[in-house]
Formats: sequence, structure tokens, C-alpha cells
Amino acid sequence: MESSREVIISGLTKNFGDIIAVNEMSLDVPEGSIFGLLGPNGAGKSTTIRLLCTLLKPVRGTATVAGFDIIESPVKVREVTGVLPEEGNHTLYPTMSAYENLEYFARLYDVPLEEIPGRIEELLSFMDLWERKDDKAGELSTGNRQRLALCRAILHEPSVLLLDEPTAALDPIAAKRVRELILSLSEKYNQTFFINSHNLAEVQRICDAIAIIDNGKIILHGKTNELREKLQAKEQYRLRIASNLGDAEQILRSAEFVEEVTVEADTLLATIRDPYDNNPTLLSQLLDAGVRVVEFAEEEMSLEDLYLEVILGGDR
Ligand SMILES: Nc1ncnc2c1ncn2[C@@H]1O[C@H](COP(=O)(O)OP(=O)(O)O)[C@@H](O)[C@H]1O
Ligand SMILES: [Mg+2]
Repeated sequence: MESSREVIISGLTKNFGDIIAVNEMSLDVPEGSIFGLLGPNGAGKSTTIRLLCTLLKPVRGTATVAGFDIIESPVKVREVTGVLPEEGNHTLYPTMSAYENLEYFARLYDVPLEEIPGRIEELLSFMDLWERKDDKAGELSTGNRQRLALCRAILHEPSVLLLDEPTAALDPIAAKRVRELILSLSEKYNQTFFINSHNLAEVQRICDAIAIIDNGKIILHGKTNELREKLQAKEQYRLRIASNLGDAEQILRSAEFVEEVTVEADTLLATIRDPYDNNPTLLSQLLDAGVRVVEFAEEEMSLEDLYLEVILGGDR
């Protein structure tokens, strides 16, 4: 059977006693796209991935992964998926080297023996880990270990990748590197990515489409570019001031296009209407008054802000 690489979820439901972890979830993730499932702790993200990789069985509903039904063909589903579980690190053997880990898993996944060395070298080089190939997995930095776990997940050339919070344990630089790798992997191998995250900014940067879940239910779903307005509804800016903070505050408060000024330590937070026109004006007023502006940045919307926006319909 010629399988596509999409993920189709229909009415997927899973409870643990009274807790409905995943509640009537339906979603289509097109082949070759990067999808982000976003939600706070306990929303049901990991349970969704565990259902999709057949570690758990749904009580109702089903899903197909790259053409295979998770209930009827779990073995096939496992063959065509690569999984980075929540604690991805723990899928590696700490006392084996990076290379040995991948070799072991390649055999486990029945990668043809003669292809194993080439594929490991390609992957380790691609992830900038080739120089670390003889280091024990347990002695790698968290970022390197996460990248090795990612190598492990894609080693058998799966059609669909299920990544559970791939950057959660990483510092910002390592997280950025992993995001770049996901983007270049998606470009190079055209796999479908299903990524769990609780970081809105991250998901916005790399995902083609996003769904937000809360208590197991999808509360918002759409293409990232179509949700843009909802995702950036704030027009709030953060100005960090090194001197004359009082003058700066005065200027902001008296500008007719500035609303809701608040002060936090050396930082002013302000909502600025028509920022494209007004920000340059404001900045030159501040500089003319001798205010030293260290930073003038758009305030990123947090997941919490977005929930309020979605749940209250943006009528705050
Ligand atoms: N094995 C389990 N046994 C009992 N409850 C569970 C189990 N796994 C998850 N849950 C519960 O299901 C809900 C969803 O959890 P989870 O899918 O891990 O959320 P997330 O990954 O979004 O943080 C939570 O209330 C969690 O406590
Ligand atoms: Mg989780």
C-alpha cells in the first residue's frame, strides 16, 4: 500500500478514570507539514502523542498515521513513526557512545546493515555531533543529548515524527538550534512533524498550523498565518531605559497614541497604536530628551494571553 504521510485524527478520546485527558479530538495534519499542538501542563499533549504512537489505546475514536490505523495496524504505525518522548534523553543508553546508541537502534529498527554506517555519519554530521560520536551519551550536554535523541527518532527514515516538547529542557541557544534542525529536516526529507509545545512563540516560528488544547479539547485550530492577527493582537512594547526613566514615562504618558503605560523596574510597558507610524516618532522624542533607550521591543504574546484572547473572544 502506497502510504501518504499525513496524520488524521478523528474523535480521539482517552480518559484515566475521571480525567478525560484527550476529549473528542479531530485534526488533519497534511503530509510534509509541521504541526504544533500547544497547551499548558496537563492539557493532554503527551497523551495525544502516546495514542498516536500506539503506546496507549483510545477509548473512542481513532487516528491514521501515514495511512495506518493506530488500532488496526499498531505495528505498521510504529514502523513509520519516529518518536521523541517527553523525556527524550531517557531513550538513550548513557554508557554507550553516541555512535553505539544509533547503531544499536538502527539494528533494532531493521535498517539494512550495509546502510547503517553511512546513515549514522550523515545524521551525526547533520546535527553537528560527528565530533562527539565517541562520547558516552550520558556525558553529553543536555542540548547535544537532545539532538542525539532526535537522531535516534529519525534514524529509520520515518514518514511521521512525533516530538513531545523537543526544546523544553534546553537553554535558549540549544532550543534555537533544535528548531533550526527541525526546519531543515522537514525541508530535506519532507516528513510530517507533529510537535507538542507549551511555548507559543516557538510554535509560531516553525509550525505551518497550530491547535491549542485545554483539558483535552481543541479550543483553537488554524494555519499559523491565518491566526496571525489573533496571535499578535497586543501591540504592546517594552522599553528598557538606562537613564531619565521619569522623563521617559512623562513623554509616553503625554503622547496621544500611547495607552496603558506601566513601569517595571527599568522598563516601561506601553500599548502603542499604529506602531509603524508612531514608534519612530516616539523614539526620536525620547532621544531628543536625553533618554537612553537600551531596548525597544515588541512584547511577545504568551500562551496565557492567547488563552484569554481565545476564551474571551478578544473583547478584553
Ligand atoms: N498514566 C496516567 N495516569 C493517570 N493520569 C494521567 C496519566 N497520564 C496523563 N494523565 C493525566 O491526563 C491529563 C493530561 O496529561 P498529559 O497528556 O501528560 O498533558 P500534557 O502533556 O499536555 O502536560 C493530566 O491531567 C494528567 O494528570
Ligand atoms: Mg506532556
